[in-house]
Amino acid sequence: MYDMVVAGSSAPGLAKDISEQLGVQYSTAQVRRFPDGELHVELEDPVKDQEVIYVLRVSPHPNERLIEYMITTNLMNGLGAKRVTAVLPYLGYTRQDTQSHPREAVTVLTLMQILNQSGIDQLVSVDIHLHRLGLEDLQNLADFEVTEVTAIPEVAGVAAEGLDHPLILAPDVEATRWARDAAESLDTEYDVTEKHRVTPTEVEIKPKELDARGRDILIVDDIVSTGGTVVELANALSRQGAGEIHAAFTHPVFSTSDSISNIFDAGITELVSTNTIPSEFSVVNVTPIIAEALKG
Ligand code: R5P
Repeated sequence: MYDMVVAGSSAPGLAKDISEQLGVQYSTAQVRRFPDGELHVELEDPVKDQEVIYVLRVSPHPNERLIEYMITTNLMNGLGAKRVTAVLPYLGYTRQDTQSHPREAVTVLTLMQILNQSGIDQLVSVDIHLHRLGLEDLQNLADFEVTEVTAIPEVAGVAAEGLDHPLILAPDVEATRWARDAAESLDTEYDVTEKHRVTPTEVEIKPKELDARGRDILIVDDIVSTGGTVVELANALSRQGAGEIHAAFTHPVFSTSDSISNIFDAGITELVSTNTIPSEFSVVNVTPIIAEALKG
């Protein structure tokens, strides 16, 4: 049913893989930069009356990428595309989903306005950060179909290699669904700790008494950004005498230069993520998972 997969500037490999899995034409939205920093976008092929899949990674450089996204989707609609499905494997700007201070922006609402104005028909994304807003709430805010797929069983499967019947651990209540999925696919148990974010880079993990002594642990989460969450959790686990600790997560944001070294210094010996954002730990390719969802 699709006619072509169009790659945004940050996702040529991913878009090519998806086009091959679906057996449809691969094309590009070529992006150049004017001397003042503004973007110039030109589609390689005509899209009139075509059913188009547009693939873009919005991290790193989320602000710049969202402008590229808007320009490209508006162009596709303006040129008469019949249907536009946006594949944004990591959906940034979803973590700020409530106000902690009275004049603070709730960016997920702005993100949904941007996506609505882009005139897409469907959004496909992997392990969306949903906390106060569930998938249904997100769908209610959207003028298009929202499709979420998960890569957690795959990352957990790889990360569990070498561990002995690990306890799966979610660092906070939002990650419960991912810990449950991982535990189910590995046929083991899961537990959830309590996290409190002090600042964007600092978290406190409630040192809940877990059944961790001598036990191998697999931490499961959607995002590792500064690494603060998994570092705090690994420290608490080490104090409780846990065995080997691995971490599996979908989106390797790694927003600070010391996030990776801090994680290893905290005693985590293995990190496994997907390629929604490229990183040295992106061993799970999300293409087959996304392609399956696109086939419907
Ligand atoms: C937040 O609730 C997410 O699920 C992650 O736990 C969080 O984004 C990780 O951020 P950081 O690595 O900076 O602690």
